[in-house]
Amino acid sequence: MAYYSLSSFVPLIIFSIVFIVGGVEAKSRAFFVFGDSLVDSGNNNYLATTARADAPPYGIDYPTHAPTGRFSNGYNIPDLISQQLGAESTLPYLSPELRGERLLVGANFASAGIGILNDTGVQFINVIRMYRQLEYFEEYQNRLSAIIGAAQAKSRVNEALVLITVGGNDFVNNYYLVPYSARSRQYQLPQYVKYLISEYQKLLQKLYDLGARRVLVTGTGPLGCVPSELAQRGRNGQCSTELQKAASLFNPQLESMLLALNKKIGRDVFIAANTAKMHNNFVSNPSQFGFKTSKVACCGQGPYNGLGLCTAVSNLCSNRELYAFWDAFHPSEKANRLIVQEIMSGSKAYMNPMNLSTILALDATT
Ligand SMILES: *[C@@H]1O[C@H](CO)[C@@H](O)[C@H](O)[C@H]1NC(C)=O
Ligand SMILES: *[C@@H]1O[C@H](CO)[C@@H](O)[C@H](O)[C@H]1NC(C)=O
Repeated sequence: MAYYSLSSFVPLIIFSIVFIVGGVEAKSRAFFVFGDSLVDSGNNNYLATTARADAPPYGIDYPTHAPTGRFSNGYNIPDLISQQLGAESTLPYLSPELRGERLLVGANFASAGIGILNDTGVQFINVIRMYRQLEYFEEYQNRLSAIIGAAQAKSRVNEALVLITVGGNDFVNNYYLVPYSARSRQYQLPQYVKYLISEYQKLLQKLYDLGARRVLVTGTGPLGCVPSELAQRGRNGQCSTELQKAASLFNPQLESMLLALNKKIGRDVFIAANTAKMHNNFVSNPSQFGFKTSKVACCGQGPYNGLGLCTAVSNLCSNRELYAFWDAFHPSEKANRLIVQEIMSGSKAYMNPMNLSTILALDATT
């Protein structure tokens, strides 16, 4: 039925005018996102892959109450950071809506299932691996240049905020995917971690070469404590020691690598976000953060709702605010909010060398 009330139509027109006029001098800085399912806002919807979140009950608490491809009941971490920047959410790079003026807002290149290594997540078949995300970033810059000119595009990229979240899948969907995996036969865990860090460093160097100058780099979460691992490996609800060990090796080395890169560049380009520590807080003390549980996923089946995928026939909790985990791997919107709160205002133990509030204040004056 075609029915428009005038009162809802008028603000829409005004909004469009403001957007177009204010477009090129968009107030907030651009925001770019790279990485895996923790930050994918829907790229995989456009790909032939099994790693997708485009069916209910995903998105049940999103403003549209519909699935979007985010691996969350509602907002994900990039959405909540965009809100802190005073910007709309960045669209997935593969979205046909990402064109014209909307390119100024930034873009999200993340793809669920990927890792630092090309051979991570091979079972998901058609996903956007890290090197490809960086190629898309280059392509994006050419498209932006065509609209606002090369010089403007370059400064928009230099002034942007960047978020990258990758690495968890290199353990979960590679090294530990099957017993005696190829990588676990090739490397002992400490050597594997060193290899990951050296490959990650190359990716970050490339990101810098492509113009990124403020990059939030999150570590992995507490890999061994997610409901999936409690269900598959944990004994009596204890976190998997192997995966916890992997995270405890990876995260500090990542932080050291970032600080060394900054030293080499001579600027605080890379910011280490200690998401494992943020997460561990509510894993070890859920009630302090208002959670009923940090072991059982809201959506899923089997022990801890940790087996298989979250689908329309899964168990589904009624109050998502009470669960730290939405599905077997991914935090709930409520947990994402707590993480972004720490990203904004956390102390140096969480955000090294500085939190996002400090970055925003600093960059506003230069
Ligand atoms: C990943 O694959 C791309 C494309 O084939 C290649 O250029 C890149 O060097 C590979 N990376 C690693 C770490 O093997
Ligand atoms: C951010 O970090 C700084 C320096 O560690 C700290 O003083 C400040 O309280 C933090 N939070 C905010 C909101 O700036």
